[in-house]
Amino acid sequence: MKLSSFSSYVLLSLLPFTLAHPGMGDSMRDIRRAAAQIERRNSKELIGDLKTLKDSQLTAIGKDIKAILLESKSAESSVIDTSIPPGTVDSAACKADLCCVWKWISYEMTAKFNGTSGRCTKFARGAVRLGFHDAGVWSKTSTYGGADGSILLTNELDRADNNGLKDIADYTKQLYNKYNKYGVSMADLIQMGANIATVVCPLGPRIRSFVGRKDNAKAGPTGLLPGETDSADKLIKLFADKTIDAHDLVALVGAHSTSQQHFVDKARDGDPQDSTPGIWDVAFYGETTTAAPPRVLKFQSDINLSKDSRTKSEWQAFINGQGHWNADYSTSYTRLSLLGVNNINDLKECTKVLPPARKSFVSQDQAVLDLWLQGQFDQLNNMVDDAIMLTGVITTPPKVTMT
Ligand code: HEM
Repeated sequence: MKLSSFSSYVLLSLLPFTLAHPGMGDSMRDIRRAAAQIERRNSKELIGDLKTLKDSQLTAIGKDIKAILLESKSAESSVIDTSIPPGTVDSAACKADLCCVWKWISYEMTAKFNGTSGRCTKFARGAVRLGFHDAGVWSKTSTYGGADGSILLTNELDRADNNGLKDIADYTKQLYNKYNKYGVSMADLIQMGANIATVVCPLGPRIRSFVGRKDNAKAGPTGLLPGETDSADKLIKLFADKTIDAHDLVALVGAHSTSQQHFVDKARDGDPQDSTPGIWDVAFYGETTTAAPPRVLKFQSDINLSKDSRTKSEWQAFINGQGHWNADYSTSYTRLSLLGVNNINDLKECTKVLPPARKSFVSQDQAVLDLWLQGQFDQLNNMVDDAIMLTGVITTPPKVTMT
């Protein structure tokens, strides 16, 4: 339930008195956190057509999305449709069901995104990044751009910002060529792809997924995506201009939990950003601030965010907060995936086509993975990127250096 500015004002003005009591450390911290949360909720901005539509004009989906954006409703869902699609994608029965084509797409994407190790593949990680790079090309002053499919409908992909996205771009275009005739827009395909990828990654959240975005064949504005050497201040301002506050930004960069870089340091092609690539866990938050295995390559931008006074406490809170992070990521990603969308009230929901979330995961090949993380077996880089089970791959014992 969203509290009014007045209630948060009362809560905040009571804080100094509450803080005065000795022995109340934990509850004081809890109250402070709750107050900060209320303040944040009250400052949440609406986007697109939701900015001007009255509540009485909202559809049921429009109301739900508004509630998600204002953080009074969860963006996660566990509603699963276990039935098979009503027919092949060409059948009349399938065409009569809006989500049927998405079910077929979901089957294809799930197979592509899930590796034999059970971790998610480079295509899954690429899909999440592609979703960000299509939608993120938008700011409050933009008159075009955002989640409009333009990243794959124009030459946007040639921009240096988009290095590393070629494989997932080729794959997504293939799906578009196959399914566009059934009414699937590129903008939706990209955002549905990001949400399917997220839930296919072990421990990833199952984010409510909406369709009906419109495509735009005009390349989005330039200069609106972040760089890996950016200061926290630059990043916070860049995202604030997209209505994404510092807290949401910390949640979103957690996507680097699954990541393996290829262009930041080409000499370390395939090195991960935490010790658990292909797993949607919180190791990234802890390892960015403390020691990590030698193969882990931390982005300076992530280190900067982990230390800044505006982002540090949330960063710390995520270190032991898988559920907290998943919830916040889902809310923040929903906002991101709707930037530049001006028909939010007309969107429909097809969350039910997403595969179920995996709430626990053990890597069966952890012993080999650990040696790789220590810097051995460079020849495994591509296999880890493809999330292939590593057990049985290495037959020679690790090299021991005598001193
Ligand atoms: C602070 C802002 C951010 C910066 C500076 C940044 C930068 C980068 C860079 C440099 C890479 C590596 C690309 C490569 O060398 O192959 C990367 C990977 C990735 N980023 Fe970000 N990013 C940011 C925010 C985000 C957000 C908001 C998301 C998603 C919501 C995201 C999702 C990903 C994913 C999933 C990968 C892994 C791709 C792969 O493994 O192929 N990033 N990011």
